[in-house]
Parts: sequence; C-alpha cells; structure tokens
Amino acid sequence: MSKRTSLKSWKLLESHAQTIKYCHIKQLFDDNPNRFKDFSLNLNEFLFDFSKNLLNEQILKDLFSLARECELEGWREKMFKGHRINTTEDRSVLHVALRDRANEAIFLEGVNLTSQINTAINQIKKFSDKVRTGNWKGYSGKPIKDIVNIGVGGSNLGPQMVTEALKQYSDNKLNIHYVSNVDGTQIADVLTPLDPSQTLFIVSSKTFSTVETMTNAKTAMNWLTSASFNQSAISKHFIAVSSNKKNACEFGIEEENIFDMWDWVGGRFSLWSAIGLPIALDLGFEKFIELLQGAHEMDLHFRNSPLEENAPVIMALISLWNCTFLGSQSQAILPYDQPLHKLTAYLQQAEMESNGKSVNWFGEEIDYPTVPSIWGEIGINGQHAFYQYLHQSNNIVPADFIGSVKSVTSVQGHHDTLMANFFAQTEALMNGVDEKQVRTDLMAKGRTKEYINKVAPHKVHKGNRPTNTILLNQITPKSLGSLIALYEHKIFCHGIFLQICSFDQWGVELGKGLANNILSEIKDDKPITSHDSSTRELINHYKLVSKQG
Ligand code: F6P
Repeated sequence: MSKRTSLKSWKLLESHAQTIKYCHIKQLFDDNPNRFKDFSLNLNEFLFDFSKNLLNEQILKDLFSLARECELEGWREKMFKGHRINTTEDRSVLHVALRDRANEAIFLEGVNLTSQINTAINQIKKFSDKVRTGNWKGYSGKPIKDIVNIGVGGSNLGPQMVTEALKQYSDNKLNIHYVSNVDGTQIADVLTPLDPSQTLFIVSSKTFSTVETMTNAKTAMNWLTSASFNQSAISKHFIAVSSNKKNACEFGIEEENIFDMWDWVGGRFSLWSAIGLPIALDLGFEKFIELLQGAHEMDLHFRNSPLEENAPVIMALISLWNCTFLGSQSQAILPYDQPLHKLTAYLQQAEMESNGKSVNWFGEEIDYPTVPSIWGEIGINGQHAFYQYLHQSNNIVPADFIGSVKSVTSVQGHHDTLMANFFAQTEALMNGVDEKQVRTDLMAKGRTKEYINKVAPHKVHKGNRPTNTILLNQITPKSLGSLIALYEHKIFCHGIFLQICSFDQWGVELGKGLANNILSEIKDDKPITSHDSSTRELINHYKLVSKQG
C-alpha cells in the first residue's frame, strides 16, 4: 500500500501549496467571474459554497486525483457493503444501514441486517408511541411527563443536538432532559424539580460500562426507589440502550426494556439507532423517520455522485488542503441558527474522536498534519467573542458557516439581520480591508493625519481567510439528517485520505484506566505515595481538604 506522501497528486499539491500561499482569494474571484458557479453545489436541502477557499481549478483537479489515488470510491463501497474497515476493532461500519428505509436486504456475513434494523425501528415506534400517548404508566399509575437520558459522548451528544435543533418541531408532550456529566450537580439540577412517579430514565451506553453513566444511573435508580419504596418500580421507569444486554440486566433493567445496539454502529454515529430514542419521544416517530430519510438522501448522494459533484468528498478535500497542505491547525464550525447551538459540540466528537490520531492503518507514525481541532460557537455570539481573532490574528482558521434561508421561528424582523451578518462575515474574512482603503475611510470621516497614522495599521484586515458556506433552505428533520450525514461522510473521506482508522477511539482508554485507579486511591484513607509529585500532591491535597468538611 503506497504511503500517501509518495503519491503523484500529493507531491503536486505540496508544490501548489508553495505557490498559492502568495495568492489572495479575492484575486481568484477577479480571475474567474464564474468562480461561485464553478465552486458550489446546489443540493436538495442546502447550497454548498466552497468558492471562498484558497484553491484554483488546477488544485481542485489535483485534489480529486488524490482522492482517486487513495482509492476513495473503493473504500466507500467497502463501507457500504459492510467490510470490516474498522480494522483495529475488526468491525464493520454500517451506520448507513440504519437509515436505509428502502428495505433492500443488507447482508453482513450472511446475516440479514435489514430485518434486525426493522425490528429495532418498530420497537422504537411502539415504545415512543406508548409513552407519548400516556399508555406507559409509572409505578403510581400516572403517565410519563419527563424523560431523562443518561449517557455521555455519542450516547448523549447526538440525541441532545438533534432535539435542541428541532425544538420547534416538538409538540412538547414530554420534557426531555440529559445527564452526561458525572458531576453530581448536573443530575441534582435535573432531578430536583421532577416527579419520580412520572419520570422515565433511558440509560444509553453501548458498552454499559462507562463509569460516569453507571454512576448517574445508580443515583437515578436510588432516587426512584426511595420515592416508590419498591424495586418493582424500576421496570416501569428504566429502559436501556446498549449492545451489552448482560451488563444492563445485571444493573437491574428488565430484558424487555433493553433496546439493542450493534458493534457495527460506532457511538458517535449512533443517533440513528435506539440511541436516538429521545428524538422519537420528543418529536414523534414520524419526524424521527424524516431525520433518517434526510440522512439516507445524503448517503445516496455520497455513494452515487461523481467525486467532482460530491459534497462530503469536496468538504474532506478542502479540510485536507487547509490543514495538511496549507498548515491550518484548527477549523471553526459557526452555525448562525440558534437551534444548531449544540452542533459544534457534536462535531467535535465526530471529527476529533474519529480522526484525531497520528498513526496510520499500518501502525506507522504519520509524518504530516492530520485533522484540525474543531471549535466554534453560534455565529452572532462568536462575533462578539472571537471574531477579532479570526479577522486579525496571524493564525488563519478556516471556518464552516452554516445558516438557513428560512427561520424556524415565527418571530419577525430578526432573520434578515442575522443573515446580513452571516453573509458579511465570510465576505470580510475573504476580502479584508487594506491600509489604503482604511486611510481613505478615515480621511472621509475627517480624521486628522496624526490620528490616521496612529490607528490605520491597527484597522487593516488582511483577509484571505478561507470559509465554506452551507446555506440550508430551512432546519427541518430531513435537512438536519442530511447535514449530519454530510459531516459523517466527510469524516470518513478525510480518514481515507489520511490513512487513519476513523472508527476506533483508543485514545480515550488511558485516561479512563488511570481515573479508575485514582478513584480507589482517593477512597483509601491513607495519603498516597505513588505517581509523579504533581499528581501525588494534588490528590493528597484533595484528600486532606475534603476530609476537613
Ligand atoms: O468517548 C469515548 C466513548 O467510548 C465514545 O466513543 C462513546 O460515545 C462514549 O465514550 C460513551 O460510551 P458508551 O456508549 O459505551 O457509554
């Protein structure tokens, strides 16, 4: 298998990077009046504009050549056909099967997954209908009012991001709450105002061994049983979503209340499975299916479109170009729709837990920059927090701007202002403003020569900051499903280009293991003598002060 850096297109791109860095994006627009048309895609649910990037036709052509030299299309087919491309865990990667509503049989090593998936989807429908119609009764015979999802990472971020994004589509039959942090403050804040007799807990954990989740679930169980005064209440107020049925049963959850997960669905790609139960409970089963349909539409686009018209492929190539070839070490995700306020946190796990690695498929140290760190905030809030940095720091941060033509709220007179900022920011980041223009503007305002000489250099914006724009028609369950799948497939492609295994997460094991050992040291009365002096003395200080009450 050829090393990436030895590929013909890789070498070409390295030389392009050496020359293009002396160019300005606005020059590329001057050179090609049709640039927007040549560097954008208009898909069913959104317009994808990638023209404000520092790349020209030849570079884009060589990026597509690189995708072909990396045999992306072959890898794509391997994923869709269930090959065990998660090589270090020897698993398939088939979250796409969860939203393939066409019901064509998908076989994985002789097993027809479609029937398993249909059973799971029907279980989601039956359960969510029963709870939403008030036919699921608690221990006192009352219907359920509040749902508490206990889970972390992919067992929390996906469902929470979606229910927050689609809040306007909820009939609010149920109140949905999330507990993910093991800090007792969070579960206390959630449970205090709730009525145990009308609260249902979903314990979401693929492994059913995540200490944070188990700790929260135990506290929730004690909260319930101390109110209901009997253990039998558990069967009426606890369900589990897990691939580890044994642990869930040992924890005390009835077998018929356990929703299956499969090892071919990664945690951070699992909201389409029963991990997405909070979505079906909050919005109703039909809207949950619309979400899946949107994702499936993107799956078809990704699988069937030529690379040159393929949004996930282009997004991944641009991220590769900006980070690995042009050297940007971070990428901002800047949604302007308030409903998408949890999207960045979701994508942080999706992107950084998938590709935040430095060893390739063969266990060799990777000697080129891999993925950027992902960060961001709702756009308008960001404009008043870190856009100074985006515009005038000497670190160039490529950014994805995500907005909608139509707002989901009925409040009038706000959306045009929001979108004027949305369009202005990518224009300003690209064009900047040079000192000549700054001086002209200050003179026009009647400023003195002395003032202008002092201030002008501080008002220059170099511009040349690359951005992608994703302009949704409107946030709907379907368009959100497409948007999430767009990023899932972008992450897959990026991993192929980098020769990274995107579907394991060995980097979370060390911290977990150390924490378990330190927890037992904390519980022991004696001062500890292990670890380095910093860790040791911090722990001893904690033990000493916490004893002082
Ligand atoms: O962050 C590590 C991780 O394993 C994620 O991949 C996963 O989504 C999360 O922890 C929770 O794991 P589980 O669903 O098994 O509790």
